[in-house]
Amino acid sequence: MTDLSSVNYFTDAQVAQDPYEYLAYLRSRNPVYREPHYGVVAVTGYQEANEAFRNTDVFSACVSIGGPFPPLPFVPEGDDITAQIEEHRHQFPIFEHMVTMDPPEHTRARMLLSRLLTPKRLKENEAYMWRLADRQLDEIVARGRCDFLDAYAKPFATLVIADLLGVPDSDRDEFRARLAGHKEPGSRVGALDSEPVGSNPLQWLEETFGEYIADRRADPRDDILGVLASTKYPDGAEPEIIDVVRPATFLFAAGQETVTKLLSAAVRVLAERPELQRLVREDRSLIGSFIEESLRIESPTKVDFRLARKTTELGGVEIKAGTVVMLCIGAANRDPRKFDNPDEFVIDRRNAREHIAFGRGIHTCAGAPLARTEGQVTLNRMLDRVADIAIDESVHGASGDRRYGYEPTFLLRGLRNLNITYTQAK
Ligand code: HEM
Repeated sequence: MTDLSSVNYFTDAQVAQDPYEYLAYLRSRNPVYREPHYGVVAVTGYQEANEAFRNTDVFSACVSIGGPFPPLPFVPEGDDITAQIEEHRHQFPIFEHMVTMDPPEHTRARMLLSRLLTPKRLKENEAYMWRLADRQLDEIVARGRCDFLDAYAKPFATLVIADLLGVPDSDRDEFRARLAGHKEPGSRVGALDSEPVGSNPLQWLEETFGEYIADRRADPRDDILGVLASTKYPDGAEPEIIDVVRPATFLFAAGQETVTKLLSAAVRVLAERPELQRLVREDRSLIGSFIEESLRIESPTKVDFRLARKTTELGGVEIKAGTVVMLCIGAANRDPRKFDNPDEFVIDRRNAREHIAFGRGIHTCAGAPLARTEGQVTLNRMLDRVADIAIDESVHGASGDRRYGYEPTFLLRGLRNLNITYTQAK
């Protein structure tokens, strides 16, 4: 057995494949515990992670994606580094996007996004999801087997966001080809998947959306992009094009991989647990709790980061201003002080919905309702269209000796591929 005290969470290949033993070890030391390699304080307790997410006065989101990488662009001085953060903000990875912003900039960016995520738009988007799920399944039902990620989850997650944003039909194949790894001859593939965090993987999207918005400002049109183009700040000021484009394009970064990971985690449980598959097939009202429990037990965003801008205390541990704090969502959601039998998938868990897979506080996932609907639509349509969903043993091994590969990243938790077999539903 590995000596867990020497594990480097950020680089250890085995821990990337199965992080839960290590995260439980950290919690057993203390729910707020400094790891030895980068001096990052890991928060593995449910209560403590909630507290840090909500305390925006003390914890800045400027490092939310990169954590300790790259190192801080300055040497923290004193017990309040708010001014230093502001001075160097443009040096933090993806500082242009709302997930790294603090108020008041964050409030403005989120306001622009809320113009897009209206109940009416979400309803229209859901209607599209049902049609899209059928179209995706049409491609694979007769085959009897597929890699669920490539064949369904990736293109589905990409095209749902393209529809939400009102990408013209004629451009959607290109979005699928570029963003969801759909390999048409001659296409450039994987713009987001293959880029490291820190560069600007959204450049193509920014150019494309920049053109859409500029077109509609010049020639107003009554469509979703037209709504975005004419959005004003509450004081009546017209945002720069790029300030409208970024909240929109960021949805692809935030909502593709995460949803893909949620859908594959849920379908894996369906395929591994025939008795649960039967239960859910017969009583579709269970799908909601099935999705919540999938989010809790395999939280797609494993960890999230904050920077302590003031010296503070969390869970009785002193945290100096300038400390990177790692909010371990995947561990908080398995904290035995909050969830009984936390490592078990329990379909009727009474408090499953209290998981923090979508974060908490002002940065709570803006796409959570969308992600939940994607889960509902996908599981419902899969159960309608295919029967006997099972793990493809030729790829993942026999029951009791399964092999699953997870994305080798410290940030996200998700399968690289999920090969399943099934029959056509009668
Ligand atoms: C299962 C799928 C998803 C998971 C697990 C997830 C998780 C998260 C988490 C943990 C955060 C908080 C980040 C932080 O506090 O630093 C977040 C923020 C965000 N998510 Fe999601 N997300 C999912 C799907 C989506 C989708 C589908 C969209 C949109 C289409 C989306 C858009 C966003 C945006 C815009 C933010 C930034 C919010 C802000 O900074 O105010 N997410 N997400």
